[in-house]
Amino acid sequence: MDPIIEVKNLKKYYKQHKKEPGLKGSIKALFKRKYKTIKAVDDVSFTIDKGEMVGFIGPNGAGKTTTLKVLSGLLYPTAGEAKVLGYIPHKRQPEYQKQFSLVMGQKNQLWWDLPAIESFILNKEIYEVPNEQYKKTVAELSELLDVKDVLKVQVRKLSLGQRMKCELIAALLHSPKVLFLDEPTIGLDVVMQKKIREFFKEYNKKFETTVILTSHYMDDVKELCKRIIMINKGIVVYDGSLEKIIQKYAANKYIKMVFLKEVAKTDIAKFGKVVEHEPLKATISVERKETPHVASEVLRNLPVDDLDIAEPELDDIIRKLFENK
Ligand SMILES: Nc1ncnc2c1ncn2[C@@H]1O[C@H](COP(=O)(O)OP(=O)(O)OP(=O)(O)O)[C@@H](O)[C@H]1O
Ligand SMILES: [Mg+2]
Repeated sequence: MDPIIEVKNLKKYYKQHKKEPGLKGSIKALFKRKYKTIKAVDDVSFTIDKGEMVGFIGPNGAGKTTTLKVLSGLLYPTAGEAKVLGYIPHKRQPEYQKQFSLVMGQKNQLWWDLPAIESFILNKEIYEVPNEQYKKTVAELSELLDVKDVLKVQVRKLSLGQRMKCELIAALLHSPKVLFLDEPTIGLDVVMQKKIREFFKEYNKKFETTVILTSHYMDDVKELCKRIIMINKGIVVYDGSLEKIIQKYAANKYIKMVFLKEVAKTDIAKFGKVVEHEPLKATISVERKETPHVASEVLRNLPVDDLDIAEPELDDIIRKLFENK
């Protein structure tokens, strides 16, 4: 079976207008414009098979959104190839438009002043979704996402979570085979993030949708993706199992402490590597398997008011990975 998504040596450079500061710079710029090239995507290659849910991760500015925009046909690549479902995205063929969806957590496509259901109807027309399928999909998804009661409320009056769920329904109305999810849970509280995550899990299982997900939340990626593609400065630096990366680079956990009275850094350092220290607060990093033992030692020996054990954030793991490179 052919892969659903194929990207080969993809590049996307942005040209940014450069102006020297001050009036002199402005005048100079009138006659001779200078450009700076930003290599947002510099060398990205991967293939993704049907039904796979792949985490696309990397630090801010790594080129994730740019890659997804190229795959959605919003941007023309500078060089290299991208193919989705056999289509070349930037050709923007209507048949392709009907088979994928791009969801951006930072942007909304719903009409702000109208109830969500009106935007759904508009999408139904644009994507030529048959009546029966439309009714069935809206009923099913609004049930699954628990937003049946708010579909007729003006979008501007919805909570962020409710709005995101409606955004998802709008994006899924035409039953896309491929989904590009760009930080779909950004800004949502932990409970809502979890709900959306569970929805994606179920949706992917049911429809075998092929998904690329970007997220800065460790839990999103851990829950949904067996495979990750890691990108830094426009270049793929890892493509493989998430589990392996975690075992290798997240060998430590964090113990976060709040104290009843001031504790010196030297006293805290006896228990682990100090990563944060304030008079009444500190965080230490300890080996994963030592965590329970160290936590009980800390409780016994320091004036602890509150203690919390945390997993390192995905961003921390990524940083470590890049430091080691
Ligand atoms: N329209 C544009 N014009 C010029 N430069 C751009 C444009 N859009 C993005 N960039 C630059 O391209 C690089 C990659 O941006 P991109 O949005 O793809 O990163 P990202 O991996 O999605 O980051 P984040 O995690 O912050 O969302 C950045 O340096 C960014 O400043
Ligand atoms: Mg982005």
